[in-house]
Amino acid sequence: MTVLIPAVNGQVAAGLARRLRGENLPIRALARDRDRAETALGGSAGVEIQVGPLDDAALLAEALRDVDIAFLSVGTDPRQTELEKAFIDAAAKAALPHLIKLSTIDTVPDSPNPVGRWHADIERHLADSGVPHTILRPAYFTTNLLRTAAPSIKATGRWFGTSPNGRIAMIAPHDISEVAAAVVLDPALRGHTYDLTGPEALTLHEIAAILGELLGREITYATATPEQMREAMAARGVPDYYVEVALGIDRSVEAGLHASVTGTVAELIGRAPADASTLLARHLPAFAV
Ligand SMILES: NC(=O)c1ccc[n+]([C@@H]2O[C@H](COP(=O)([O-])OP(=O)(O)OC[C@H]3O[C@@H](n4cnc5c(N)ncnc54)[C@H](OP(=O)(O)O)[C@@H]3O)[C@@H](O)[C@H]2O)c1
Repeated sequence: MTVLIPAVNGQVAAGLARRLRGENLPIRALARDRDRAETALGGSAGVEIQVGPLDDAALLAEALRDVDIAFLSVGTDPRQTELEKAFIDAAAKAALPHLIKLSTIDTVPDSPNPVGRWHADIERHLADSGVPHTILRPAYFTTNLLRTAAPSIKATGRWFGTSPNGRIAMIAPHDISEVAAAVVLDPALRGHTYDLTGPEALTLHEIAAILGELLGREITYATATPEQMREAMAARGVPDYYVEVALGIDRSVEAGLHASVTGTVAELIGRAPADASTLLARHLPAFAV
């Protein structure tokens, strides 16, 4: 069985490739930068890496040759919808037997998060393509906090956002990779849509309290207005599209779209997903002074 993993240096994709390498499955990967891919994979042993842009139809056709299953997860990027649809079209043309698509739990057509709307559009395209598929819809990644909160927490002990009441059933990308590996390895798990969450839904204030306990100093989450957030992110050089994504994620959180807790991860991988305290402890140096 050959597994194709485009955008292999993504956090979930690289974890999947590392996990499958241990199963001695032939893995073919696509990346736009070989060095970054090798860094993400911890070397290229056991993975055939092809390098090129994801909109290169000839490269996709070649990469999809004799592949049994693929895992699709282009990162948050203004071209994500276009690139994922192009991959799905290439997969349909190549009669790919199965595609696992990473989506998001706030995937609804009128999602308050633009990324939720992108995924709804891509999921529809996948359904119409006729490619047999499995959809993974995870909640908020723990690693978001490394980008959105850690620098501010390190410097000032607090961070800002626009979601004072929303709850988040945070999940580690590593646990999502484990689920994807289970679907690759067990055909009986395929053909479903899975909502993947951590074991508890916490407010950002509760997450701040856990971090404070782990760090031994007071950490707070403070509410700002969308305008204040836009200004602060622009001053840090955050690209405009990502400013709107960040505000959209907060709107989704506030609307409760990341708050459900499912037992799906444990059912699929036979162990509970890591809880917030364990995950934050794992990343503690990023928050510590
Ligand atoms: N973060 C969350 O809380 C969350 C929650 C639920 C679902 N998701 C979904 O999870 C998926 C992964 O998200 P992420 O932002 O965390 O991604 P990521 O793991 O950072 O992965 C990004 C990958 O996509 C590639 N990529 C991005 N733009 C590209 C382009 N224009 N052309 C070619 N490759 C490109 C990157 O390649 P390079 O390394 O070359 O840049 C990298 O390999 C997304 O679909 C997101 O919606 C995220």
